[in-house]
Amino acid sequence: MGRKWLAVHGGSLGKCGDSGRAFSQMRDYLPSDRPLLVLAPMQDITDLAFMRVMEATGGGPDVYVTEYFRVHDDSTLEKDILRSVVENATGKPVFAQMIGQSIPALVRNARLLEESGAAGVDLNLGCPAPIVCRKTAGGGLLRQLDHLDAILGALREAIGGRFTVKTRLGYHSVSEFEALLEIFSRHAMDALTIHGRTVAERYRTPIHPEWIRRAVDLMPCPVIANGNVVSVETGAALWRRTGAAGLMIGRGAIRNPWLFAQLRAHWEARTHPPPTFEELYHYIRLLYEETKHPTRYDEGKHVQKMKKYMIFIAQGIDPDGTFEHQIRRVTAPEAFWEICERFLLERADNMLGQPPAQSSIFCGFEALLNEPAIVR
Ligand SMILES: Cc1cc2nc3c(=O)[nH]c(=O)nc-3n(C[C@H](O)[C@H](O)[C@H](O)COP(=O)(O)O)c2cc1C
Repeated sequence: MGRKWLAVHGGSLGKCGDSGRAFSQMRDYLPSDRPLLVLAPMQDITDLAFMRVMEATGGGPDVYVTEYFRVHDDSTLEKDILRSVVENATGKPVFAQMIGQSIPALVRNARLLEESGAAGVDLNLGCPAPIVCRKTAGGGLLRQLDHLDAILGALREAIGGRFTVKTRLGYHSVSEFEALLEIFSRHAMDALTIHGRTVAERYRTPIHPEWIRRAVDLMPCPVIANGNVVSVETGAALWRRTGAAGLMIGRGAIRNPWLFAQLRAHWEARTHPPPTFEELYHYIRLLYEETKHPTRYDEGKHVQKMKKYMIFIAQGIDPDGTFEHQIRRVTAPEAFWEICERFLLERADNMLGQPPAQSSIFCGFEALLNEPAIVR
């Protein structure tokens, strides 16, 4: 099947899909001399406040994507998420992501999101949460190819601006990916982002860059590679091994928001100094202040909320993981700040370039560096 499809499309970059639509509208955003840098959508994390913090801490990515809007027959656009689009003051494009499986509802919400000023509309095909997959949404759609095909067709028809898709490599196995690519190629999407794992692999394995490379070779639109970029070295390796038009970075950017600036410096042949512990402390301060709920601020709840970010930030602060251990147990702001000050202000040190290799939070990132580069 894959070979026949290749013969028809020939990996052509001239047209996107079989509708004859002009080539990807994503082109407007692609830098000429380096990959596009995108902040990955992360539920309960990448909101308007977080975007502000990213901009203030190292300049942020080139493009943002909202957390997903849950879409079903009776849904309205979630106001808190919509703020990331309508109150966006970063000066950068913000794509709005949807998750769902009802075609009329997805079409209706896509139109509303376009009218709200989103730079594009993205469809989530990767969420591995069992409750989402059971409803045949997110990663669950990768098991229902006919329905997926119909959704993509309807959305492409409805969305006049940029329409993008974020997928995994398959539900159970990477062997499903060829058939998925065949479907994706029919729908004139403006970009395809690929988290290089299957749904079944969740976050527990190294990624499969060779399958992202396969999509770069076959898809008529730009491909954005995602998964396990935690440092300049892993970002450069993922780009080299896939040839993707862009890199999407999630957890690595929570841990180190300067990563975007470091990667830009890398491709401009400059060096970017490693962030100091003191700078890291000020990043945590800013996160704490900016993410306080404007009307329902509660100290204890806010410390709990901070732990969502701190789990990533804590990786590699000290060799035996005491910082993470203590932060995970804290309940009050005073204790939270005492720990941060003790570990980050009393030692004039720099952040490690990457998390510890054995980190279960960034599972398998070192494999990106170890595997041989693909010869073009
Ligand atoms: C806390 C968290 C929330 C996430 N929420 C979303 C989401 O709303 N939409 C989505 O497409 N992916 C979501 N993801 C997946 C990320 O966008 C990304 O694909 C994944 O983390 C791999 O990239 P990374 O290794 O750079 O983190 C989420 C990941 C995490 C860790």
